[in-house]
Parts: sequence; C-alpha cells; structure tokens
Amino acid sequence: MNQTMGLFVGRSAAMQQVYEAIQKVAPHDLSVAIYGESGTGKELVAKAIHQQSPRSSKPLIDVNCAAIPRDLMESELFGHERGAFSGAIETKPGKFELAQGGTLFLDEVGELPWELQAKFLRVLQERVLWRIGGKSALKVDVRIVVATHRDLEKEKNRGRFREDLYYRLNVFPIHMPPLRNRNDDVVLLAEHFLRQFAPHIPGLHPYTRERLCANRWPGNVRELRNCLERAVLYHDGEGPLMPDTLSLKSFNFSETNTALPLQTVPLTLSQHPPTLDQTICDAIHQSLLRNKFNKSRTAKELGIRRQRLSRMIQRYRLGH
Ligand SMILES: Nc1ncnc2c1ncn2[C@@H]1O[C@H](COP(=O)(O)OP(=O)(O)OP(=O)(O)O)[C@@H](O)[C@H]1O
Ligand SMILES: [Mg+2]
Repeated sequence: MNQTMGLFVGRSAAMQQVYEAIQKVAPHDLSVAIYGESGTGKELVAKAIHQQSPRSSKPLIDVNCAAIPRDLMESELFGHERGAFSGAIETKPGKFELAQGGTLFLDEVGELPWELQAKFLRVLQERVLWRIGGKSALKVDVRIVVATHRDLEKEKNRGRFREDLYYRLNVFPIHMPPLRNRNDDVVLLAEHFLRQFAPHIPGLHPYTRERLCANRWPGNVRELRNCLERAVLYHDGEGPLMPDTLSLKSFNFSETNTALPLQTVPLTLSQHPPTLDQTICDAIHQSLLRNKFNKSRTAKELGIRRQRLSRMIQRYRLGH
C-alpha cells in the first residue's frame, strides 16, 4: 500500500478501495479502464499502476485523445513510414511503439474516432501493428491503461464506442470518487497543498476547513489545488490561513453565517502532526462550539481566565 500512498493523499473509504484496486491489478498485464470526473486523479492512478508493475523500468507513454487533431491521431498512435502521405518526410514511430515493453496510457479514450477504434482493437487482439504506409507488421508488447470522464458503457449503448473494444478495455474498471463525497480528504489534501505552496503558514483556520468542506468542487482535486495556490497569496503574513483568502465559485459566502460552522473537522485527520498553534486554536474552537460561544463557560471548561480566553479568541480570530 505504501508505494500507492506515496503518490496519493487521502484516507477516505472510497480512496482505500482505489488503492486496493491499484495494488491488485498493477502486477498483472490486464487492461485497466479508469473512470471519473475531471481532476479526480485518473492520471495519477495510471502512473501508480505503471510504477507498481513489472514494466516500471520501461516507458509510460501517455496520449491524450482529446488533444490530438483527428487527422493526426492515426499517425500519432501507430506511426508512419516516410512518404506514406504528403508531409511524411521521415519515418516516425507511433506511441504504441514508443511504449514498447511498458505501458500506453490512452487518456480521454472516449474521444477516439470510430475508425481508429477498429484499428486499435486489431492491435490489441493481434499484438502487432502496421505503421501508416508500412509493409511489415511490427510486434507490440504494451500494457494498456485508458481513462475517460465519459460513461463508456453509455457511449457503447449509444453506438458511439465500439462494443468489442469496450469489452476489451473494460477488463478491470476503476472508478474515481468525486471530491465532494469525501470531506475528510478535502482537509488532508488542503493541508498537503498548503505545505507544498507555503510551508511557513502554520495551518488552516477551523473556519477555512469548514468552508473547504462545504464547497462542491466540480473540478475536484485540481480545483482544490488551484484554490490553495491562490489563497496563500492572500495570507496576511501571520497565523493560520483564514477563510477570506479563499475564492470559491460553487459556494455562496453571503448565505453562510461564519460564526456557525457547517461542520467540524477534527484535527486528528491530519497525516502530519499539527503545529502547537494549530492545536491550541483547535482546542479553543471546539470548546467554543460545545459552549455555544459562551465565553464564561468556555473559559471555565478550558481552565483559563475569561480575559485570557478573549485575548486568544482575538489572536486566533475565533470570534463571531
Ligand atoms: N489523491 C490525490 N492526492 C494528491 N494529489 C492529487 C490526488 N488526486 C489528484 N491529485 C492532483 O490533482 C491534479 C489532477 O489530477 P489528475 O490529472 O490525475 O486528474 P484527472 O482525473 O486525470 O483529470 P482530467 O480528467 O481533467 O485529466 C494533479 O495535479 C494531481 O497530482
Ligand atoms: Mg487526466
């Protein structure tokens, strides 16, 4: 599990299942189909599978089927011989050949044109390919991993994806969970990105965590990463990262009373020990919540004087 965990941050039950699936399938030569919304980590899964396979010393070649113009796609995948078409001034190997002995990762495979789906299937079945204009077959030994944000089964049923290729690719499906369904991971990931972008910031303010957890994250982990990268620019130089540094699109600040947290995320979620400041701030925050922000009761519970509590509330900006 360790090697997988090295690439990924997240301990939710849904991600545990993903790690388990990677561990199971990586050592075998089975084709893997990774499904999930944009930014959920599909490319990371492909990387993990390759790294943990016996092919790890050989190349991992990725092709984004959505990014290559349609008329260049065939040559890109299968290569061409010199003079095969106008502009083919040199013989060029395709991505299949470049991945020889290793793994070919076809990203956005749902965008592969119909006619190339047939050619792709033939290569998978016969384990040989012909470059465009090629006279002889070349042996290929590649492991195939594909990813798509589409529901390939639906695409197949609508006649947009070849049924025979679908069954050939969907040997071992892995479904990436959207971030909005794993709040625990939101905090872990946010702390991870905070450490990455601004190691000097002592952590996330409890309200920042709540805001992050309340967000829908349509762009998933990528969106969260971008959000943190932007937020650290607005940090005012001391203390934890405050919620007003976040600019969240899918969350309406004005409808939320920041004094009434939507959800309390315990500190113990962190994979790294919290800073002393963060621990103190959290303890006070938890106590304030338990005591409905009544300062006398909170101070009593914490065993400190009321004035000291007021100073700390100010310092950690925990007030209403
Ligand atoms: N569990 C995770 N832990 C750490 N980083 C992650 C995790 N999941 C995703 N990321 C990071 O989020 C970003 C998006 O991930 P990735 O490119 O793998 O998503 P994707 O599903 O392939 O997205 P798309 O469909 O848009 O291509 C990357 O920077 C990746 O490193
Ligand atoms: Mg991707």
